[in-house]
Amino acid sequence: VLPPRSSARVDLQRYRELHRRSVEEPREFWGNIAKEFYWKTACPGPFLQYNFDVTKGKIFTEWMKGATTNICYNVLDRNVHEKKLGDKVAFYWEGNEPGETTKITYRELLVQVCQFSNVLRKQGIQKGDRVAIYMPMILELVVAMLACARLGALHSIVFAGFSAESLCERILDSSCCLLITTDAFYRGEKLVNLKELADESLEKCREKGFPVRCCIVVKHLGRAELGMNDSPSQSPPVKRPCPDVQICWNEGVDLWWHELMQQAGDECEPEWCDAEDPLFILYTSGSTGKPKGVVHTIGGYMLYVATTFKYVFDFHPEDVFWCTADIGWITGHSYVTYGPLANGATSVLFEGIPTYPDEGRLWSIVDKYKVTKFYTAPTAIRMLMKFGDDPVTKHSRASLQVLGTVGEPINPEAWLWYHRVVGSQRCPIVDTFWQTETGGHMLTPLPGATPMKPGSASFPFFGVAPAILNESGEELEGEAEGYLVFKQPWPGIMRTVYGNHTRFETTYFKKFPGYYVTGDGCRRDQDGYYWITGRIDDMLNVSGHLLSTAEVESALVEHEAVAEAAVVGHPHPVKGECLYCFVTLCDGHTFSPTLTEELKKQIREKIGPIATPDYIQNAPGLPKTRSGKIMRRVLRKIAQNDHDLGDTSTVADPSVINHLFSHRCLTTQ
Ligand code: PRX
Repeated sequence: VLPPRSSARVDLQRYRELHRRSVEEPREFWGNIAKEFYWKTACPGPFLQYNFDVTKGKIFTEWMKGATTNICYNVLDRNVHEKKLGDKVAFYWEGNEPGETTKITYRELLVQVCQFSNVLRKQGIQKGDRVAIYMPMILELVVAMLACARLGALHSIVFAGFSAESLCERILDSSCCLLITTDAFYRGEKLVNLKELADESLEKCREKGFPVRCCIVVKHLGRAELGMNDSPSQSPPVKRPCPDVQICWNEGVDLWWHELMQQAGDECEPEWCDAEDPLFILYTSGSTGKPKGVVHTIGGYMLYVATTFKYVFDFHPEDVFWCTADIGWITGHSYVTYGPLANGATSVLFEGIPTYPDEGRLWSIVDKYKVTKFYTAPTAIRMLMKFGDDPVTKHSRASLQVLGTVGEPINPEAWLWYHRVVGSQRCPIVDTFWQTETGGHMLTPLPGATPMKPGSASFPFFGVAPAILNESGEELEGEAEGYLVFKQPWPGIMRTVYGNHTRFETTYFKKFPGYYVTGDGCRRDQDGYYWITGRIDDMLNVSGHLLSTAEVESALVEHEAVAEAAVVGHPHPVKGECLYCFVTLCDGHTFSPTLTEELKKQIREKIGPIATPDYIQNAPGLPKTRSGKIMRRVLRKIAQNDHDLGDTSTVADPSVINHLFSHRCLTTQ
């Protein structure tokens, strides 16, 4: 246990007191916080209403229903006009190439967002419409999402590492009428021709009878040709490599961002929305294979991300905050865009990767901008650990005060390295457990207040009431291990799965009526600390990204050579977990390195590079129950060469197990 710091905003006793009040009197606790925001009209009725019990009717949560507001107004206009933060830097943008930089103040950001809102309005976008965004980490991504929010349109951001097929699936699921994308970008040395992927995706949408009527394209790599900068601020023009990117142009559909912006006015009245109107859709893997469109609403999400940001990172106005997550994930939505901006914070927005041009890139950026609070993923920490201490220690990092992690359990070895080497043993670490569905942090230490245990996400945030249940749904007290659930709503909880409320109820509320079920296993120790033990459903966590076994399996069986596939998670030193696939081939096909390559390519094209398997094993037969269910539990053991299989009496044909053991993949392919 590492002791807390003395200078914290709250100490442990105050945390306990505030937490107790927040759970016992959520309306009063969040009501006080709501007063810090702008509401066009006040909440006319109950501040909170909900039902978490499927046996009593429809599942719903409503915070401040009937109050009207606009989140974009709260995070920009109010900061500029009321709080006089117009000249404060909102983002330092650091490009993939060192030296490619720019910055944008709150006032400049507001102007760009108003301009782009006017652009969208002119394209017919209205409150409630869905807009797909497929962009790298550039300032226009933030501008685009906030412009949607200003108009009450829902942004559906698709991570730029996803494939054309994944983008198409997401556009169709929420019938997005407009796509915003970028010509191309570099990730390290790799050139990504994003427009080509976007075109491919829109072609697929057309084939499926859904023509997206407009595609707005940011000229990013080609920016130098325009003789313009990322923002109207005074930074020097950026240097960029001059790639040979060929862009197809679809007349009547494609429009250049910069041309539209030149004609757009810089004032735009926000659309006043109900606190319970949807703010965005963000897709996350679902155990059936089809991604779920997680819907967050305006009011509750705003309160929750603002408050978690303030306490969990112990925010002070002079901070320079840096969350390395891509905005395409929930971490980026909540802690690159909305949380920091709601607090009037200055953040770093980084386009590149930690190892380009060298392994010290993150720390050179920390020094360059004097970053005080730094938030990243265990997979990044483990990857950097491999290069030893030198790339870190040759940079000062003296500005750092708090370090955070998110996305998966952090192993104590990585935690200790992060603390000892990166944080020079001065900085508290906040290991934040949460989910796309929760909107913001759920279990987390508060820096300086919570004594830390490496590997534990420690205690619940304000308003969060966790419980651990056994298989029969009984709440376990004291030291215990079981299903992690939450007993009552917090403002940031998702409200529905887009277009499929039944799926929302079934996934999160059916197994244990009365509780929100996370899908994670958890242990509580004798001091009340929570330790996440990992997913207990058919989900995999690769480098902090959730994938479902079903979605990878369906990508595999779409290949003509594959009759059946089963995918399991396998321990990996950097990714945490990697994919180990078993494939049964159709008659007439033979297993070969060429086929393995084709299957990998297939998965990259269907899902994206993050889902590329490390192992693919030929499996003439799979262990199944007599009713035909694949026994992934057994396959997981086979992959690890663990012969302690437990009960295998239900396996229909036990001989397949020995065959699979003797043909295991010994190295990654
Ligand atoms: O299994 C948990 C793991 O990531 C899952 C949520 O993934 P996603 O919705 O993609 O959001 C990731 C970023 C918030 C969880 O169900 N997870 C996330 N953070 C932690 C974690 N597991 C252990 N410790 C964490 N700090």
